[in-house]
Amino acid sequence: MKYGIDALTLYVPKLALALQADWAQARASIFAQGNPELLCQKVEKGIGITHMSIPDYHEDSATMAAMAIKNLMEENEIKPSQIGYLAVATETGLDHSKNMGTYIMGMLEAYFEESFSHVGSAEYKFACIGSTYALESSLALLESKRLSAPYAIVVCSDIAKYQLESSAEYTQGAGAIALLLSENPRLVEIDAGPMGTHSVNAADFYRPLNKEVPVVDGKHSMQIYEQCTFEAYQNLLAHRKQTTRDFDLLNGPIDYCLFHLPFPKMAKHAATFLLKNKELPTSEERKAYSQTEEFQNFLNRKINPSLELAPYIGNIYTGSLYLSLLSLLSSSENCVNKKALFFAYGSGASAKVFSGTIKSNLPLKTKEKLLQRRFLSLTEYEDRHKQLNDQFIPSEQNPSIVPPQNEFIYLGYDQMGPKQGFRKYSYKKES
Ligand code: HMG
Repeated sequence: MKYGIDALTLYVPKLALALQADWAQARASIFAQGNPELLCQKVEKGIGITHMSIPDYHEDSATMAAMAIKNLMEENEIKPSQIGYLAVATETGLDHSKNMGTYIMGMLEAYFEESFSHVGSAEYKFACIGSTYALESSLALLESKRLSAPYAIVVCSDIAKYQLESSAEYTQGAGAIALLLSENPRLVEIDAGPMGTHSVNAADFYRPLNKEVPVVDGKHSMQIYEQCTFEAYQNLLAHRKQTTRDFDLLNGPIDYCLFHLPFPKMAKHAATFLLKNKELPTSEERKAYSQTEEFQNFLNRKINPSLELAPYIGNIYTGSLYLSLLSLLSSSENCVNKKALFFAYGSGASAKVFSGTIKSNLPLKTKEKLLQRRFLSLTEYEDRHKQLNDQFIPSEQNPSIVPPQNEFIYLGYDQMGPKQGFRKYSYKKES
């Protein structure tokens, strides 16, 4: 019996910041010797990003997750009674104790007017790779027939916020992905057997309790990403006891390599490390190799189709690897019966590698929709950035930039009294 991803939806907020125009003007003195053109080139070519998604004042990680699941259920005609498990992957959690899944199911119950009380749920935390741990556990629950209903959902929802004017500023983003998991899946059959795994206690990126933005050592985080990914890949080869040819990235039968994308250029760095770190130990040597025809062909054929959407959204942490999958499935490639290797990474740190067979394309017009978002001015962006934390309470002083229509909204929480801190949500219909 095959198990895997039956359907997938992406929810992205309606607001975005273009990393050109007034943002580039304002930051050029910090990042590009006062030259906005140079900064635009650096961000677009060196990092691979042109826009970052920003949540509106009525949104948080729970509303984004609820939107992704609502759309997943409606588009695929899934009833609450068919869902056995909801795994929530986030590193933008809203409570030290309460599973975000309960807030999400509360919103969905009110919307569908049906009970989710039979649905088991847990929140998974391991930076960006929390989603892949959630996927692995949910697949095991399905395979072992421990669920009372045929589907499990993994929802990945995050807001990546870094310090303004730091070099991490242009790697922010926000969004949610919902994955419907089932037997005989329509989108991706995930190969059985252990995933290649590697974990280490690293200080590359972490967000201590009560800190709004992560502590991040950017260059070190890239090295840990590369090393962990390489080790997880070696671990996969060891588990499978197949000839390495089966998983030979350059010449083997793997058609696509999908990566967690903190920024799109990271895929290229990781790929050169995976292919050549033994023969070409210095980063300069690997950089030279990355210019070769061999590598460029590999990049164009096996990686680039999965990089098409991230430049318009930024880092969505837990959802990022599955955004790469959506990019590939909605690209012009015919993916049917093609083999993909998935490289998951989360800071702190852990990497996992697994393989799957793609069963169908998902021809959505996501890029076109992303170009129709409301683009923020620098002042709007900086004001929103200041308020973008889990203590924020919406008020008349901070109205939504795009008034909500047909979406879940965060209403705030009581600051005192018996239910202090309990978050409230509602659904705003078209007015
Ligand atoms: P930076 O200071 O922008 O780096 O920081 P840089 O100055 O080296 O520039 C980046 C690239 O732009 C370089 O290319 C430059 O040459 C190029 P590379 O050497 O890398 O090939 N460049 C130009 N290209 C074209 N035209 C130009 C130009 N100028 C320069 N004019 C960094 C970049 C990613 C470190 C920073 O943004 C950061 O700290 N981001 C946050 C951390 C991060 O994303 N880390 C990634 C790995 S860790 C991870 O993936 C986990 C994470 O998702 C969290 C989780 O797991 O939950 C973050």
